[in-house]
Formats: sequence, C-alpha cells, structure tokens
Amino acid sequence: MVKLTFYGHAAVGLDDGTNNVLIDPFLTGNPKAAVGADKVGANYVLISHGHGDHLGDVEAIAKRTGATIIANFEIATYLGNKGVSAHPLHIGGSVKLPLGKVKLTIAHHGSSFPDGSYAGNPCGFVVSMGGANIYHACDTGLFYDMKLFGERDPLDVALLPIGDNFTMGPEDAVIATEFLNPRVVIPVHYGTFDVIQQDPHQFKAMVESKTKARCIVLNPGESYTVNP
Ligand code: NI
Ligand code: MN
Repeated sequence: MVKLTFYGHAAVGLDDGTNNVLIDPFLTGNPKAAVGADKVGANYVLISHGHGDHLGDVEAIAKRTGATIIANFEIATYLGNKGVSAHPLHIGGSVKLPLGKVKLTIAHHGSSFPDGSYAGNPCGFVVSMGGANIYHACDTGLFYDMKLFGERDPLDVALLPIGDNFTMGPEDAVIATEFLNPRVVIPVHYGTFDVIQQDPHQFKAMVESKTKARCIVLNPGESYTVNP
C-alpha cells in the first residue's frame, strides 16, 4: 500500500509507511503548493530535470531531512557538489533500494538548470514500492515507447502532465493512458500558470470513456491510497 499525495504542479509524495519518496518538489513560488518546503517529509527526493518548477526546493529539503536525491548523473553531481547525498542514475537504469526500485525512463523535453547550465537529459520515473508500480511521466510529450513501460512493469498508477504548452495536453495524455494501460491515471502539471490551464474533469471524462483506466483528480494536498 502506498499513500500518494499531490502537493501541486508536478510534486508528488509516495509514502509506504516506512519510506517517503518526494518527486519534483517545487513548493516555494508554486501558487498551488499544498505544503511548505520546511514541512514536507522525505527520505528520497527524485528530480526529473533541471527546470525550476521541478528542481524546486530540493537542496533545502535534502539538507533539512538528510534525504538521498536520485536523479540523472548531471543533476546528481550538481547537487552532490552542494553537500547533499545524491545517487546518480541514467535513462533505462534502475537502483534497488530499501523502499523497492526506482527506474529512470526517457522523457521528451529539455533540461537546463535555472542559470542555464547543462542538466543532462530529462527523465520520468517508475517507482516500485509497497507492492505497486507507479509511473511519473514528469515533463514530456507523448511518445510511443510508453507502451514498453506498462508491458515491462504493469502500472498501478500513471501520473501524466495534461497542461499542454510545455508538455503533452489532455488529448495526448489520453493516448498515453492507452499506451501505458495503468489501473489509475492522475493528471498533473496543469493549472499552476496561465499557459497550462486545463479542466481535469474533462480529462477524466475522456480517459474513462476511451480507456480502461480510472482517472483520479486530486486537488493539491489530497491523497490517493494505492492498493496493488
Ligand atoms: Ni520542464
Ligand atoms: Mn515543468
């Protein structure tokens, strides 16, 4: 069992009662943030790419909590040099941890640090913990290889961006749901800024009429319990 909490934008927490995984903790400056960077718990922080709305408060959170960061080699090195614990991975690679397994997947997007320097390739994650496989696509457009992720690790939950403009929009996210074939899809990366306004309930109606998945719309601060 995993308690999945949506903190706003693309930030998500996964808690199995022992381990607490935080993904893309953009909280300070996030108008939709449901928790403060000084309050959120984590013993692992996963960072998908260098953009500020994903890197967020990672440094402060890792320093306060002692959490281990998992990211691509470039981001892990950058953050490791700031004195936090970081484990580097790269696309297609996974690491077995006390919590289960974290795998880096491809994502089609950019990745630079807020100062413009190179942050490696962007990625998504398949997190296997508490008996569940949870995919966070992070920032990406639609791509056909998503089919492989669900075939390789049957997905309990897929977190998909629906904001359009910087990532796939709702129509492409419905096709992504068909490709991934998860039991549950949860929309993220919408509503935070003017250019990514979307109606998640319209997305839910499309998903549930066109695919076999259930769609759970979470407001920032709300949780969904994943029972694999
Ligand atoms: Ni981005
Ligand atoms: Mn983003």
